[in-house]
Amino acid sequence: MSQEDAELEARLEEQETFEPPESFVEQANVSDPGIYEEFEENWPECWERAAECLDWEEPYEEVLDESAAPTYRWFTDGKLNASYNCLDRHVEDGAKNRAAIKWEGELGETRTYTYGDLLTEVDEFAAALRDLGVEEDDVVTMYMPMIPELPIAMLACARIGAPHSVVFAGFSADALATRMNAADSEYLVTCDGYYRRGDALDHISKANEGLDDVDHETETVVVDRLGDDLEHSLAERQQGYGELIEEHAGETVEPVTRDAEDMLFLMYTSGTTGKPKGVKHTTGGYLSYAAWTSHSVLDLEPEDTYWCSADIGWITGHSYILYGPLSLGTTTVMYEGTPDYPDKDRFWEILEKNRVDVFYTAPTAIRAFMKWGTEYPERYDLSSLRLLGTVGEPINPRAWKWYYEHIGNEECPIVDTWWQTETGGHMITTLPGIAEMKPGSAGPGLPGIDATVVDTTGEEVDAGKAGYLTVQKPWPGMLRTLYRNDDRFVAEYWEEYSDPDADDWVYFPEDGAKIDDDGYITVLGRVDDVVNVSGHRLGTMEIESAAVGVEGVAEAAVVGGDHDIKGEAVYVYAIPEDGYEGGETLEEAVVDSIVDSIGPIAKPEEIIFTPELPKTRSGKIMRRLLEDIASGNELGTTSTLRNPEVVDEIQQQVQE
Ligand code: WT7
Repeated sequence: MSQEDAELEARLEEQETFEPPESFVEQANVSDPGIYEEFEENWPECWERAAECLDWEEPYEEVLDESAAPTYRWFTDGKLNASYNCLDRHVEDGAKNRAAIKWEGELGETRTYTYGDLLTEVDEFAAALRDLGVEEDDVVTMYMPMIPELPIAMLACARIGAPHSVVFAGFSADALATRMNAADSEYLVTCDGYYRRGDALDHISKANEGLDDVDHETETVVVDRLGDDLEHSLAERQQGYGELIEEHAGETVEPVTRDAEDMLFLMYTSGTTGKPKGVKHTTGGYLSYAAWTSHSVLDLEPEDTYWCSADIGWITGHSYILYGPLSLGTTTVMYEGTPDYPDKDRFWEILEKNRVDVFYTAPTAIRAFMKWGTEYPERYDLSSLRLLGTVGEPINPRAWKWYYEHIGNEECPIVDTWWQTETGGHMITTLPGIAEMKPGSAGPGLPGIDATVVDTTGEEVDAGKAGYLTVQKPWPGMLRTLYRNDDRFVAEYWEEYSDPDADDWVYFPEDGAKIDDDGYITVLGRVDDVVNVSGHRLGTMEIESAAVGVEGVAEAAVVGGDHDIKGEAVYVYAIPEDGYEGGETLEEAVVDSIVDSIGPIAKPEEIIFTPELPKTRSGKIMRRLLEDIASGNELGTTSTLRNPEVVDEIQQQVQE
């Protein structure tokens, strides 16, 4: 490192706040700080700003109907279609030849869909789905990796008013079956396989295995991604995507008129109990919110080329690869593969080649890039970048500063966006053209978002003290319920801090946080039984039930421990049953069972066999202690334990 570099590095290390660069502010979509006050004074009508990002077939009557709180209704009686908003209106406005999706395959092939192309294929697939029997409000499941047919299928569903439920391709066959059963979904769109690090991966076998466990009749469409690289044949009630498109070539489908509150999609996510929660998002509120936050936070313009490196199988991909950018008419980049294939410079190559203006990724990726070294981004011209973003987990200041310096060249603001599957879009972040940035702190609540940090009694905590994050007012992108489980919806998010008698409803996201004097919020992480592995949300109870399902395991506790790259990693503490030994065989069986029931992302970092789990006198497992052991933290007092001696034993094993 040259002396100059070393000095720069040292300065950045010290610096605690960063002003948005003037060049950015000058052109920002939102740059008037008065927006915070404007939204506060004019709440909830301020949310018309979000609705104005869309074209409505029929105007809404009321911005917000709170009469059935916490089941809020937004933009009541408004009518619109999401696929019309993402496609037709841009084509009608003369953007037919603008790129909508620029797809980069892992092996180096590319595909560009203009808005015109995309509309054509969405029309054709919508016609095919109808022909298969899909009707308005039927849930269509998608189990696909990052190939263009995934967003096409989603928009085709939106066009005919059939909610989609996308299951992340890395999830297991079991996970697919559970989700299809829970939603009574009779249609599946999947593919034969995909490429990972150059290898052709079989996906259809996993899909078929899942379908075997679906308890009702299904129709399946299979995209041929691998061609001759994978031999497979279609089973009964399965059709090829390509053949269907050919059959319906040139057909158009009138976008179905949907009510603002009609379901646009379902997204299953993990919670405290073993069963995934079906988060329901609506057409009017969700789409307005995805568009508004893409405009105000990601600063997207129709002329931009924008890249979000998430997978569409998660909410980030739904809101910020697909719905937000396309509703604004932006060009969205979609990458099929991993960041280090064929080499560790893949992302920078994609950024340079596409002249990307705005880039959005996860802290876990940034930490990996840091570890790989600056020589990879240095080989490329990244000067097209204007704004950077992160999402999914807290970002440590070192990683923030590395991103700022080495990717943004100190010329791009960074938005650290806190939000959740349930919130539909960004909630806590700086507005990039307005506020100064504080590495490690996401920022204030967005205009109109009333985020506060409270103690266990619901009182606001003092600045700097840790507490629980809450959102005290509703917002358009919020989930409306948990599919077919309104009771759980209330219990999970609203019971903790609300006062139903006073009709006072407070949303509890189940995160810990602290707030500074200036209103900046630092999110500390989940306070429920959820671990955040590389920005992926996993329920420890789901993993635990997979572990105890193994013959030879008497009891298990699963916790998250700190991990340099992943943020958190999965640690399993397991008690072998009498007559079984906690050796390699049992370990493998536990790993297999977890991977089978959830997917490779839940693969434990370590499995620690122990004769006992540390328990309080009342018999509760001391999870906090297990987390500290896994993280290598200093341990607090163990004197409240019924069996303190087991702690030493476990620690020894971890160190081995
Ligand atoms: C949980 C939500 C939002 C899309 C990706 C994850 C954590 C998310 C941040 C951030 C600190 C964050 C929270 C949240 N989280 N973004 N910028 N800083 N923590 O969506 O799977 O629903 O997970 O991710 O703990 O509750 P999700």
